[in-house]
Amino acid sequence: MADMTVAYSPSHGLGEEQSIWFKLTPLLNQENPMQVLMALSDKYAGVIPINLKNQRIVLLSEPEHAERVLVSNADNYTKYFDGLRPIFGRSMITIDGALWQKIRTPQQAAFHPNMFEEYFPYLMSAIDSKMARWAKFAATGETIEMVEETWTLAAEMVCKALFDREMPFNPHFVFKQVKTYTDVMNHKSIRLKNVRGELVEITGEDTAKAMEVWHSVPDMVMGANVLEHREKTLLTMLQEAEADPDFPEFDHRQVIDEMKQYLWAGTETTALTLAWSLYLLSQHPEAMERIRAEARAVCGDADPQWNQVQQLAYTRQVIQETMRLFPPIWGLIRIAAGDDDIQGHKIRAGDKVVILSYIAHHSPKFWTDPEKFDPERFAPERAKKRVKYSYLPFAAGKRACIGGALSQIENTLALVQLLRRFTPEYVGPKPAKIHATVTLCPKGGLPFRIHALS
Ligand code: HEM
Repeated sequence: MADMTVAYSPSHGLGEEQSIWFKLTPLLNQENPMQVLMALSDKYAGVIPINLKNQRIVLLSEPEHAERVLVSNADNYTKYFDGLRPIFGRSMITIDGALWQKIRTPQQAAFHPNMFEEYFPYLMSAIDSKMARWAKFAATGETIEMVEETWTLAAEMVCKALFDREMPFNPHFVFKQVKTYTDVMNHKSIRLKNVRGELVEITGEDTAKAMEVWHSVPDMVMGANVLEHREKTLLTMLQEAEADPDFPEFDHRQVIDEMKQYLWAGTETTALTLAWSLYLLSQHPEAMERIRAEARAVCGDADPQWNQVQQLAYTRQVIQETMRLFPPIWGLIRIAAGDDDIQGHKIRAGDKVVILSYIAHHSPKFWTDPEKFDPERFAPERAKKRVKYSYLPFAAGKRACIGGALSQIENTLALVQLLRRFTPEYVGPKPAKIHATVTLCPKGGLPFRIHALS
């Protein structure tokens, strides 16, 4: 593939000059990027306006700001996806207004809690494959990269539970390609030449390969071995919408783009949460023991049954606390359609607004001893006292994550099953550092060794 030449259009999205990511690069390429943002937020009372020649970015971190932008005046704020179009196409996560509602409606049923029982055996089967793999790692003693491990697991869960298919692609390879795009801080070095509005010939081996691989994935999934021919799956819902003559907007391209969206938005976030939680647990063996004790109390020596999942409450709290400390989506970006006033701060039409969930999650105003790993914060009595919109792992309002509840079931089951059989030992530098891409990744990964429990 060396020296591959591709027709490149700026609409492919890699590295627009005006990209908010470029503007934030100096802030985020720091040793500890979130510390820098927290210090600035403290200094400017939660509102950091960044004035550039022809545009303004406003970083917001108070719960009231989130409420205004995501909930009470949400229609004034549209989605921002510079650089990520090749990943998401025109899927619903990128669309605004009436069309977004129309596209989301036929998919909503797949995420209703009454579907989760049906997904349960497929989630367990994906965890079984992971355990078989980890048994080999335990025998060889080799060092593994945890995010790759958990990403494979999350992708297999989505393929099996939501699409009724075996996972037909090599996730390690595919997601490496996706990273070309989501590692937006590196766009500048990848982008070679970009003349606005015109097709430009560039040599871009990375981008071309990444696009080619990613675009082939939905077809591969559709053509893969069907597991059970279930009547109602997310995939059949998408296909029904496509077949509906009264819904011309939902064409085949839409089905493909929705699948891409689930294969990324529904996997990397879940995978990062599980990987970060294993890191935190490796540093807090008492919490790991408590998960094992809870599993024994609820399930004995047997595998969890569906009706026991709700009782794995402490395990779920560990996941919630992980998403507080390491929110996979650390900032929510919007463009102001019209002027607004947020707590006395003027927002102008065209401003880019970033809700910094990470900062609210780490603020001593809302959390006692915020840097401490303390899953008890999410015990029901304490959780009730939480300040609204101070915890936003899944955003809020009508554009909140469709898969938040499902991801917590996936990760609860994964933690319980993996930790009852293995002790994952983190072997990287401590503490693990953050690399702030579109998602909150570990810098240099999270290397682990796996030990089998006797
Ligand atoms: C820990 C796991 C997850 C986290 C932290 C997470 C986080 C988020 C966040 C913050 C948003 C809103 C983005 C914004 O407003 O700019 C979002 C949207 C979305 N998420 Fe998730 N997500 C997770 C898991 C999942 C799963 C498992 C699925 C599906 C299988 C999923 C599918 C989606 C979709 C389709 C949207 C767009 C919804 C819309 O625009 O209507 N996510 N997610």
